[in-house]
Parts: sequence; structure tokens; C-alpha cells
Amino acid sequence: MNDDRTAIVHRSDIEQYHHGDSPVQVVTAWASPPNSDVLVMLGDTSTEASAQLRIIRHRLEQRRAEGMWIFGVTSARVNEGKSTFATQLALVLSESQRARVLLVEANIARPSLAKILGFDVPQGQSFSAQLVRKMRGSMEPWCVVALGPALHVLAESPAEPGFPETLHSTHFQNAIGFLGRGYDFLVVDGPSVLGSGDANVIENSVDAMIVVARANQSSGNDLRDTVRQLGERKTLGVILWDAAK
Ligand SMILES: Nc1ncnc2c1ncn2[C@@H]1O[C@H](COP(=O)(O)OP(=O)(O)O)[C@@H](O)[C@H]1O
Ligand SMILES: [Mg+2]
Repeated sequence: MNDDRTAIVHRSDIEQYHHGDSPVQVVTAWASPPNSDVLVMLGDTSTEASAQLRIIRHRLEQRRAEGMWIFGVTSARVNEGKSTFATQLALVLSESQRARVLLVEANIARPSLAKILGFDVPQGQSFSAQLVRKMRGSMEPWCVVALGPALHVLAESPAEPGFPETLHSTHFQNAIGFLGRGYDFLVVDGPSVLGSGDANVIENSVDAMIVVARANQSSGNDLRDTVRQLGERKTLGVILWDAAK
């Protein structure tokens, strides 16, 4: 990663603000997405994908008015675009500061948000590392990275070991609930559904799940099994998501 892409973290940029009953520390960083083909850059209003994202945003803003604002993103299997979609959703929801959004990386075993967005997670501040310290009784504030005035990210560092088992602790669920109180939207980038119960843990912690599938890649049977494993209660819908050719 060259210097242009390295997150610049100044101590003076570190703010503290009160968030529920304990403070959250916000560290400012620069994001420099390495792949702007897949990451739909907002402002390019002509693309079909941006238009679709804004329609999805409209639907989620309606849910917000009904009291749902913590959304999990999942798919049947790996590499179906969960993290890409979750990132784009967080960007579009926070566009023009219309809402304060936290993007949370909950696919601890296969993290990718730092790479997709091109920023460095501060040392020791991966989501799962912070969770482990809380499980051991630490009272330190949550540390999140601000990538814009309305977009914060709580991600895993690709450079440090993660702790996937933290997903199954009650601390994970508590963390999502606590953090959610400080934002208009939480977007939780989850693990895939088939082959483990990890996505079901995410489901328990969020208001609704969004299932992502790729028209040219995902299998219909897998999708059916996925929707069955998640159950209908919290599944908001399936999004067919392929980059416009
Ligand atoms: N809609 C899409 N169209 C084309 N390629 C995509 C799309 N979404 C994701 N990709 C690519 O597919 C790969 C997996 O995407 P990712 O979002 O990391 O999947 P997941 O989080 O489900 O494992 C990445 O290389 C990404 O660039
Ligand atoms: Mg992913």
C-alpha cells in the first residue's frame, strides 16, 4: 500500500462523543478504494447501480420510520458480493449526510472491508479484538474509523489475527445493540449462510436481513436453502446484484 492510500490518523482528529451510556472514540482516516469498478462511486448518478441503490435506500428509510435500522447483509456462499453490497449500501445511506451510518464487519473469518474501502484499521482496534477485550472486562470505549462526516466503520484489520469465535458471545449481540443506538443506520456485513450457523447469529442481532445474490453466479437451490435457513421473520428480501456490463 503506498503512502497515498495509508490511513492518516492524527491525534488531533480523535474526538470523543457521548453515545448512550459510554463514549465512542472516533478516529479519522482516508479511504482510497482500490477498485472503483466494483465500488459504485456515488455522485455518478447516471449508473443503473446508483439508481437501484437509491431505491433500496428509500425502502430502508421507510423501515427506519417503522423502527428498523440495523440491517444484516448475507448471501448463500462466499464471494457473492456481500461486502461489496454492504459497503455501497452504507455509502448511499450516508450520502450527503442524510443519515449517520456505521458499517460493521461481522464476517470475522473472511474480512474485506479495509481492502474494499482502502483504509487501515488502527492497531489493536479490529472489531473482534475490541470484543475480546470487552469479554475480559475492559471498559475502554469502542473505537470506530470515520471515513466521512456521516460514515463510520468498525472493521477487521487484515494485518492482525481475528477472533471469529466472538460472534457467538452475547457480547457481540450487546455490541450491535449498543452501537446501534448512536446511529441512524447500522449495516452489518455478515458471513454467508450455508454450511454454518454464523449468519443466524447475525440475524439474532439485527432488525432485518438482506440476502445478496449474483444473477450469473448464485444457484437457485442455494438461494432457496438460504432463505429457509434464515426463516421468513427477519428476511427483508433478496437483492440480485451484478455489476452493469
Ligand atoms: N455485483 C458485482 N459484480 C461484479 N463483481 C462483484 C460484484 N460484487 C462483488 N464482486 C466481486 O466479487 C468478489 C467477491 O465480492 P465480495 O463482496 O467480497 O463477496 P462476499 O463478501 O460475499 O464474499 C470481489 O472480487 C468483488 O470485487
Ligand atoms: Mg465479505
